[in-house]
Order: sequence, then structure tokens, then C-alpha cells
Amino acid sequence: MTRVLVLNGPNLQRLGSRQPDVYGTTTLGDVAAGLAAAAPDGFEVELRQTDDEATLIGWLHEAADTASPVILNPAAFTHYSYALHDAVLIVTETGLPLIEVHISNPQARDEFRHVSVVSPVATGVIAGLGTDGYGLALEWIVRRAGRAR
Ligand code: DQA
Repeated sequence: MTRVLVLNGPNLQRLGSRQPDVYGTTTLGDVAAGLAAAAPDGFEVELRQTDDEATLIGWLHEAADTASPVILNPAAFTHYSYALHDAVLIVTETGLPLIEVHISNPQARDEFRHVSVVSPVATGVIAGLGTDGYGLALEWIVRRAGRAR
């Protein structure tokens, strides 16, 4: 069984009511349910959210230690957390895939959102496709696992 960790950073528990014009009305619970339904045999999805940088870093260490692929929405940490950059590299340097997901397209928003310190060490990035980005990331992780077999 491959466990995919879907990790979400600060303020994302407010999804559904936070800036619906930017992030839509889908809640994080809806995202979790959609991913659970979409996970094929042999895959399980565990979605978590925290506002705490240290907790997020601990979960990335756990992903590396348990060989769990990661879907990560680092939220605002994306733009300035070098500690998160280093923790993401700990995951990807093991060869595990880590997909950075953004619901909105940060490039089309405030200038401070144009920089991601995570992207250079992520396997890939999906941005601007709404919460569909999570499902697309899972689809690719499953496809890649099939190729690796
Ligand atoms: C976000 C984009 C970030 O700039 C922002 O701080 C978020 C959400 C997104 O999913 O579009 O909290 O990561």
C-alpha cells in the first residue's frame, strides 16, 4: 500500500469561506473526500493541514522516512520559508515525488507571491487549476508509480 501525504499549510483550513473569488467554495474536507474516492487500489491518501511551520517540516521528514509521495500546498510559506525548502529537498533527494500545488495562480497575483522557494526542489508544480490541482497531482503520482514498477 502506498500512502500519499497531502500536506497543507497555513489558512487552508478556511478553504470554502476564505476569498471564494480566489480559492472557490470547495472545502478541504471536500478535497479529502474527492482524493479518497479517486485513489486506486494500492493507494491511500492522508490529508493534513497545519498553520505551524515546524509541524509541516516534521510531516515532510515523516514522508521521507516512510517513503510516502507528497502533494504539498505550502500556502504562504511557499514564498519565504527556506526551512521548508530544505525539508522538501530531504524528501525529493530520496527520489520520492513531491508535487507543489497551488489552488490559485500565484504568478497572476501580488508580486510577493511570484517567488516560490519550494519550486526549485519540488518534482513539479500545478497552479491555477483550482482544487482540481490536488486530484491531478495524485493522478500523476499514480502514473509515475506504474512506470517505476
Ligand atoms: C496558495 C497561494 C499562496 O500565495 C497563498 O498564500 C495561499 C494559498 C494557493 O493555493 O493558491 O495560502 O498556496
